[in-house]
Amino acid sequence: MFGARCLLLALRRCSSAPCPKHTQAARLRVCEALEAQEVAGDIKVQGWVRSVRSQKEVLFLHINDGSSLESLQIVADPSLENRDLTFGSAVEVQGKLVKSLHRMQNVELKAENIRVVGPCDTLTFPFKPRERQPLEYSRQFPHLRCRTNALSSLLRVRSEATAAIHSFFKDNGYVHVHTPIITSNDCEGAGELFHVRTSDKVQERGENSHFFNVPAFLTVSGQLHLEVMAGAFTQVFTFGPTFRAENSQSRRHLAEFYMVEAEMSFTESLQDIIQVMEDLFKKATSIVLSKCPQDVELFHKYVSPAQKGRLEQMLKNKFITISYTEAVDILKRAPQTFIFQPKWGSNLQTEHEKYLVKHCGEVPVFVVNYPYDLKPFYMRDNEDGPQHTVAAVDLLVPGIGELCGGSLREERLHFLQPRLERLGLADAYQWYLDLRQFGSAPHGGFGMGFERYLQCILGVDNIKDVIPFPRFPHSCLL
Ligand code: 4AD
Ligand code: MG
Repeated sequence: MFGARCLLLALRRCSSAPCPKHTQAARLRVCEALEAQEVAGDIKVQGWVRSVRSQKEVLFLHINDGSSLESLQIVADPSLENRDLTFGSAVEVQGKLVKSLHRMQNVELKAENIRVVGPCDTLTFPFKPRERQPLEYSRQFPHLRCRTNALSSLLRVRSEATAAIHSFFKDNGYVHVHTPIITSNDCEGAGELFHVRTSDKVQERGENSHFFNVPAFLTVSGQLHLEVMAGAFTQVFTFGPTFRAENSQSRRHLAEFYMVEAEMSFTESLQDIIQVMEDLFKKATSIVLSKCPQDVELFHKYVSPAQKGRLEQMLKNKFITISYTEAVDILKRAPQTFIFQPKWGSNLQTEHEKYLVKHCGEVPVFVVNYPYDLKPFYMRDNEDGPQHTVAAVDLLVPGIGELCGGSLREERLHFLQPRLERLGLADAYQWYLDLRQFGSAPHGGFGMGFERYLQCILGVDNIKDVIPFPRFPHSCLL
């Protein structure tokens, strides 16, 4: 069925545009060709050669165009071989799709014409046929690594995960908002900001280096802008680039990463936020597993064999909730010594987060109600004592540590105003205080690091391996 439908589409594509003589055939993507059961007539595929095997009687090629992990087998008469037909070259193959005798594939393309569109010098091309290079090796070639199996699988998973996250929120009645990338606020108050100024050329013309007349930064979170929108649309989300200037070269930090953020009005309990976080994780992951099983499997088989079981446990079990105070007690009783001594009032370090997840049976753990003094100004005061806390929640997951951070927001003007005044921020955040004067509703939300989420699905150890373009000093492509 699929085969017939895609062939029809391909034929329509071809008939609507005049094709040069040699490209009269309908063009199929490799994934479409692989799914086709039977196809009559000539077709054409375009892609990059993944293998060339020349035998006396027959020439075998494998062509990949990025539409699937699997490549399409081409069988051709050896007379069609030419010097430029090598691993890595870009080709266009025309012929007939026929039933394959090979056990592992339905169809193969019996070539009538092979055209090398772009040759590839195999001596200097950094990847070789049938060689499985470690991810660290590929990272040196950010401009070419998407042609490897591992990176193309990763990037397809990234694309499906993006769509799955959007559909989760759409299906649950959230409005998608594009929050600003250049902003004057430091939402997290940690000062880990990239400053945005005009170029020297603009300043030479005597113009202000502050384009907006105030200092501006790349956003660390869209949360404050989402809170504005939650005051009109009730449930909103954003999913965009986020920037942190913390100088960490760790395996889970990036200077530029993507964050999924949701904000819900009329939410009075952390439990409501926790439920959305757990549902998002489980629903989006199930969609990804069903949309690209082969791509995920490649990672579970060759990159992180333990991850498949871990992920199944995460999806099957209810996530656990403990308080920050309980977490510190668990850490203090731990039979191991930590580099950072656990202490009430101090941040949980990665080593602590990993221990807590292990202690809870390798299931994701929500840690709630953190010390007031540890968290940003916008978090809701729990008005408790003697250990004063705010209604914050972090989700810790196996192998990664913190995946999501969220809270109830302080919606009460008489709490928020004095807090901002003490921080000397009341003037700059007058607009934020306004939200508490005009129809203030209890609300809350969270942010999930998208790259850490991908690390968690695939078991990738270094966060630089789940982004399209890794950045590091001396990278050839920044
Ligand atoms: O915990 P964070 O800092 O929370 C916020 O920014 C809130 N304003 C979000 C909200 O409530 N709307 O960041 C949220 C998540 C973290 O849990 C982590 O997964 C990810 O963003 N994250 C990073 N990921 C990669 N590199 C970094 N430098 C990251 N910093 C945070
Ligand atoms: Mg956090």
